[in-house]
Amino acid sequence: MRHLMSPLDFTTSELEKLFDLASEIEKNPKKFSTICNGKILATCFYEPSTRTRLSFESAMYHLGGNVLGFSDAASSSASKGESVSDTIRMISCYADICAIRHPKEGAPMVASGKSSIPVINAGDGGHQHPTQTLTDLLTIRSMKGRLSQFTIGLCGDLKFGRTVHSLINALIRYPDIQFIFISPEELKIPDYIREDVLEKNNIPYKEFVRLEDCIGDLDLLYMTRVQRERFFNEEEYIRLKDFYILDKNKMALAKKDMLVLHPLPRVNEISVEVDDDARAVYFKQVQYGVYVRMALILTLLELL
Ligand code: CP
Repeated sequence: MRHLMSPLDFTTSELEKLFDLASEIEKNPKKFSTICNGKILATCFYEPSTRTRLSFESAMYHLGGNVLGFSDAASSSASKGESVSDTIRMISCYADICAIRHPKEGAPMVASGKSSIPVINAGDGGHQHPTQTLTDLLTIRSMKGRLSQFTIGLCGDLKFGRTVHSLINALIRYPDIQFIFISPEELKIPDYIREDVLEKNNIPYKEFVRLEDCIGDLDLLYMTRVQRERFFNEEEYIRLKDFYILDKNKMALAKKDMLVLHPLPRVNEISVEVDDDARAVYFKQVQYGVYVRMALILTLLELL
């Protein structure tokens, strides 16, 4: 039995197979529409979510399966003090596979140790968000035809943004990837990513504060929201939340084929005037998120 805790749990060749399956599902969804008949997905979300939870549920319904779960810790017995370890033992009796989101780093890993069904990390604190990374990689592969030879800019909250941490870990396995990190001083990439992931693997990176100073060099721009829920100080959040606003003027400085991605939700960091730009692919990303989660459910349930 396999779980998904980190994007690195799959080798790059396993990821290729997963993305090929997701692309096959995209082209021929009917072929997969009953494959999960009789199977149940549990979504255990101890933190708010729109995309991740609903895309998992949509994925399971599109495969012909069923879904149960909770979307708020307060409506589960976590509010009475039940541990994640005990909860997953219950869920293992009710479902065939479980996606879990939790504010504490490592909680899905703890759950996987006690589970008798596959567990998927649907986001743990500021740590990892592997299925968002699968979504991001599938989007890039589908729209650019490759996952190598990119200069990718990651902009915004690089300290708390778990999607950023997961994406860096995943992309360093492909050739000729360079990173440009764009953030205010207070939200720079954590030292453990800089030292243990980038420098240890000789991955080139540069750091900027102003997006205008580097946007013209980028093949991909990954915008992120300032993560209000991870700040200890509301004043600090208010000071930093509108530090970056991608608008038409900044897009005019970018390459004609640069793609703009965002894991969403967006707050103010991308002006709505950018939505109609052909390079803005963040809403397409959402659709790829359903295909890749369908492929992941089939892979972890070993149904193919
Ligand atoms: N991208 C993402 O994780 O969105 P949600 O928080 O809405 O699930």
